[in-house]
Amino acid sequence: MTDSSPPILRINALTKTFDDFTALHGINLNVRDGEFLAIVGPSGSGKTTLIRILVGMDEPSDGAVWLRGTRIDVVPANKRPTCMVFQSLALFPHRSVGQNIEFPLKLRGVAPAERKARALELLDTLRLPRDYYSKRIQQCSGGEKQRVALARALAFDPEILFFDEPLSALDYRLRKTLEKELKDLHRRTGKTFIYITHSLEEAMVMSDRIAIMKAGRFEQIAPAEEIYARPVSKFVAEFMGEVNFFDLVKGAAPGVALSAAASAALAGQTGTLTIRPESLRKLTAEGVADLSFEGIVTAEYLLGSRIQYRMTLATGQEMIVEVLRENAVEGGIGAALRVGCDLSAAHLIAEAADAAA
Ligand SMILES: Nc1ncnc2c1ncn2[C@@H]1O[C@H](COP(=O)(O)OP(=O)(O)OP(=O)(O)O)[C@@H](O)[C@H]1O
Ligand SMILES: [Mg+2]
Repeated sequence: MTDSSPPILRINALTKTFDDFTALHGINLNVRDGEFLAIVGPSGSGKTTLIRILVGMDEPSDGAVWLRGTRIDVVPANKRPTCMVFQSLALFPHRSVGQNIEFPLKLRGVAPAERKARALELLDTLRLPRDYYSKRIQQCSGGEKQRVALARALAFDPEILFFDEPLSALDYRLRKTLEKELKDLHRRTGKTFIYITHSLEEAMVMSDRIAIMKAGRFEQIAPAEEIYARPVSKFVAEFMGEVNFFDLVKGAAPGVALSAAASAALAGQTGTLTIRPESLRKLTAEGVADLSFEGIVTAEYLLGSRIQYRMTLATGQEMIVEVLRENAVEGGIGAALRVGCDLSAAHLIAEAADAAA
């Protein structure tokens, strides 16, 4: 899978309007063959609307969707070669696990013996015991139902599997287990997964790339590390976790002391400097860093092996700092604190980037 391989799915200028409300604003996306793409974004940003169009449950108002070179947005859902949404709620509750898994094969006219053989294989794939074949759906736990639903989705043998928050109703431990299983399943099947979630953590654990959605548009589509280290907007930076912002105007940022080298590098630039709390280190009174900050500690929170501090700078701005426990600030709340970081840890969001959002 490289950037140059042809996309399995190409979304071109897709727009969806409901009466006078625009839910999707001409979005573009290329999904690579075999990729695990997570789509994250706040409630109402258009994630489900997009996936409903991709699987044919809804029609776009404008734009086109191509699957391996075939235009599919004009094809009815049941005639599409491949797409399928995985939803545990869509299982037939009064039928057996086996009947549920075999359903797509039955639709295709596969003979009973072959259907059963395939269903048993899929039970193996999903790590469910083979004697679950004759178990009723009602006798399955929440996690087992999710696995049955997944086995049934795989029985369709789709080219792309779509997921809309499949784990959101499950408890934390089960969610963590299934996250790993889904990732593993993705690796073993080589299928393309498109996975909607509210949970950034889930997206980071599983996906090759994350697409961040805001108000019917993609803000940024990139691997998690890149989105974390080089967000294109303040919205993305905040979505990816706690962050400090400093306005930079023509190379000067109130509250930030710059070394000569940092001053030279930032000369004339305008935008927002973003600095993650854990990129900062404690400095002594004489300590030097490309960027340094001084303030008074106003709060401290223990986070396992790390401690987070809030400090207020002379400018009045509040700053979040995270250090290892062994570097705890003597005196805690009320103490003076100096911290700093390398210029490479401070990402500059150029002025225009956020305005485009
Ligand atoms: N059938 C519809 N008629 C009118 N508006 C709709 C319809 N379906 C969705 N919308 C609107 O489109 C926007 C996007 O909805 P969508 O369900 O795609 O959001 P989402 O990102 O999936 O949110 P969530 O994370 O809460 O599931 C929302 O403002 C929603 O109210
Ligand atoms: Mg939704």
